[in-house]
Amino acid sequence: IKQIDLLPCLPGPFGSELSLTLQVQKHLEPFRLSLEKLQDVSARLRKDMIRGLGKHSHHRASVKMLPTFVRATPDGTEKGDFLALDLGGTNFRVLHVRVLEEEQRVLKMDSQICAIPQDIMLGTGEKLFDHIAACLAEFLDSQKLRGQTLPLGFTFSFPCEQKEIDKSILIRWTKGFNCSGVEGEDVVNLLKEAIHRRGDYDISSVAMVNDTVGTMMSCGYRDQSCEIGMIIGTGTNACYMEEMKNVKRVEGEDGRMCINTEWGGFGDDGCLKDVLTEFDEEVDKTSINPGVHTFEKMISGMYLGEIVRLVLLKLTEEKLLFRGCPSEALLTPGSFETRFISEIEEPDSGLENAKKILTKLDLDWDLVDACVARLVCDTVSSRSARLCAAALATIVNRIRINRGLDHLKTTVGVDGTVYRKHPNFSDELQAAVRLLAPKCDVTFLISEDGSGKGAAMVTAVAQRVWACWASPDDLFHCRVTL
Ligand code: BGC
Repeated sequence: IKQIDLLPCLPGPFGSELSLTLQVQKHLEPFRLSLEKLQDVSARLRKDMIRGLGKHSHHRASVKMLPTFVRATPDGTEKGDFLALDLGGTNFRVLHVRVLEEEQRVLKMDSQICAIPQDIMLGTGEKLFDHIAACLAEFLDSQKLRGQTLPLGFTFSFPCEQKEIDKSILIRWTKGFNCSGVEGEDVVNLLKEAIHRRGDYDISSVAMVNDTVGTMMSCGYRDQSCEIGMIIGTGTNACYMEEMKNVKRVEGEDGRMCINTEWGGFGDDGCLKDVLTEFDEEVDKTSINPGVHTFEKMISGMYLGEIVRLVLLKLTEEKLLFRGCPSEALLTPGSFETRFISEIEEPDSGLENAKKILTKLDLDWDLVDACVARLVCDTVSSRSARLCAAALATIVNRIRINRGLDHLKTTVGVDGTVYRKHPNFSDELQAAVRLLAPKCDVTFLISEDGSGKGAAMVTAVAQRVWACWASPDDLFHCRVTL
């Protein structure tokens, strides 16, 4: 297990710092997961994935394994102009995307970011969709696209029970959203109703896409062997191509279908109790959705900063930091932003960044405090990377066994701020995957705007398939090219 060595940056004789190090390490111990533990976590996830795929067991499954009705990847004949909406990360975006057949390229023509204020994130569903419809109207005007009724790809990055590609029932909100009257409803309907309430423009077909699927599809355009999409950002999740014969909830045995695992819900049945720390329990308790998305709360950007804050606070209470004096800022939930972790772990400027951040948080720090803060960040982000690795290894091992292969070579399309911005998260994740899935050779491809271009790609593929088959039911029988 990687650890930042505290001692080299400490001044003076080592005696007292050594005992401090040991005491700090004792508090951080529960975050350190051995390889055996990670293998065990992976085995538990494997069981939960099987439960989620089962016809009669999926209702009770905490890992939902949602069919996405995406069975085909781009074949290069897709073309046209599309609108894409992207809701679920830090911002809401509207995009105009052009798929060029000849060059097999996806061009982002233009895009606009609209903030979603906190009162809308926590208000009524009607208000949220009115806001989305208003942003879309503004964008259509600015692009002079009003009146064109373009097909729309909607990246809606929340767990949805998808009935068809254009019918998607929200199971539950995650990541700080909690709008009333949306859970249990068809999101496409809510969007269309909001557009009809305005009555000043219309959209044609809508394809609903999870961000993991958009990520897989956008990478699939560049690399045919990309059959997994993974997000480690505000939230975390992955999708992959599963054999239809294992997707017991959907008719048909042939080919493959992309399954949105919703691995963020892993542990919601209590099966990760031994892995959770007191800090995870506190984060869960004070979140807006206690008891759900247990795995996500140990891993993703929405929560990592808060975990670090709680650990720093505990160490301060134990008089191991800041001479036992917390500042008002440190006592305030949410004050330690997840981006601070990346900044503090920067290899060259990390310690300097730590000092600046601790000053910003009004803490009376010394060099030892800055080193300890760095160690805490490293410990929390390492655990996140290793847990993600355990989950990803479960998927790649499953694909290998599904196909009866001794060795699997595959590509994962990845996106998300934690993966992209943290200085060593990706290295650590990849190293752990190598250990946990030794018979798989996994390439990681950072997606180029999977939530935008990927959504357009899914829509384009859906359009192609819609055009080829008489009714959406026939989609059940289409063979997959992947
Ligand atoms: C959602 C997933 C999404 C992930 C990454 C989670 O909170 O449940 O649907 O893919 O965040 O954005």
